[in-house]
Amino acid sequence: MLTRLKAKSERKLAKQICKVVLDHFENQYSKELGDAWNTVRGVLTSPSCWQYAVLLNRFSFPFELEKDLHLKGYHSLFPESLPYYPKSMKCYLSRTPHRMPSERHQLGNLKKYYLLNAASLLPVLALDLRDGEKVLDLCAAPGGKSVALMQCAYPGYLHCNEYDSLRLRWLRETLESFIPQPLVNVIKVSELDGREMGDAWPETFDKVLVDAPCSNDRSWLFSSDPQKAACRINQRRNLPVLQIELLRSAIKALRPGGLLVYSTCTLSKAENQDVISEILNSYSNIMPVDIKEMARTCSRDFTFAPTGQECGLLVIPDKGKAWGPMYVAKLKKSWTT
Ligand SMILES: C[S@@+](CC[C@H](N)C(=O)[O-])C[C@H]1O[C@@H](n2cnc3c(N)ncnc32)[C@H](O)[C@@H]1O
Repeated sequence: MLTRLKAKSERKLAKQICKVVLDHFENQYSKELGDAWNTVRGVLTSPSCWQYAVLLNRFSFPFELEKDLHLKGYHSLFPESLPYYPKSMKCYLSRTPHRMPSERHQLGNLKKYYLLNAASLLPVLALDLRDGEKVLDLCAAPGGKSVALMQCAYPGYLHCNEYDSLRLRWLRETLESFIPQPLVNVIKVSELDGREMGDAWPETFDKVLVDAPCSNDRSWLFSSDPQKAACRINQRRNLPVLQIELLRSAIKALRPGGLLVYSTCTLSKAENQDVISEILNSYSNIMPVDIKEMARTCSRDFTFAPTGQECGLLVIPDKGKAWGPMYVAKLKKSWTT
């Protein structure tokens, strides 16, 4: 079943664009993004120009692979040393849409690399994880960001939660494939509704990542069943409610002075900026954290659209920089209530 789930997500790339979804996006995003939408649409609807970044697994010492990537013309994401860019995280990008083959899961063998949308490292970097910290990945499957977090630092405790039981198995398999046994001991996996985590672990975590369930623009565009797609579009307006509830729970689970990062892989303002504005307007102890500097330092590799927020960035797919969509917002819980 798990293999079928993975195969299904790969097969989507070979499928037709779903017209119902494209028309719906066209209507919304041409208003929200203006002229930029034409380029974004061109990239999103052409899987042949999508790019795949290679995140090396520091626990399997892939030196040969690193040399090979240099020879193939890959370059390192953020070569400059930035305050929030840990040297132990090595991610390589190709300017062309070359895709490395996926590695097979083999019990007892750690994988050397994880293929990902490079923009999905921004929420991980924004979290600025330090050794020894307690961190919660509230919506963790299939585990890409949990693996990336472990490349940045050695947390004292990493709690990975996922609500969907099938995806939870995928998450466990990812962790087993990338993280060596002694470190697995600092990781706890749970299968809870993320909305309950705040009550179960109040004021526990130094850092919380909410990589929320969202419209997932890339995947929705290639929905194989138009009826299911139409149904999803109808239910789309309920997503911000779930996202806000997950954030409320995350805020409860965060200790005073702790940091929270919210991310989605949709362009939708209702699921991005509006969700964060609602949170900022309803909590006096939650502060926006300015991450504009992060956008400036990685503008060579990513194209950003204006969000009107200092604490929120939106990566939009562009020609030759086919990364995103990815929205990232960073918040801090103040010491006083
Ligand atoms: C965007 S995906 C997470 C991707 C993951 N962070 C990664 O980088 O691999 C969102 C996840 O949230 C899960 N989810 C949906 N509703 C949830 C809930 N109420 N509580 C916790 N997780 C939920 C979905 O099943 C999905 O796996």
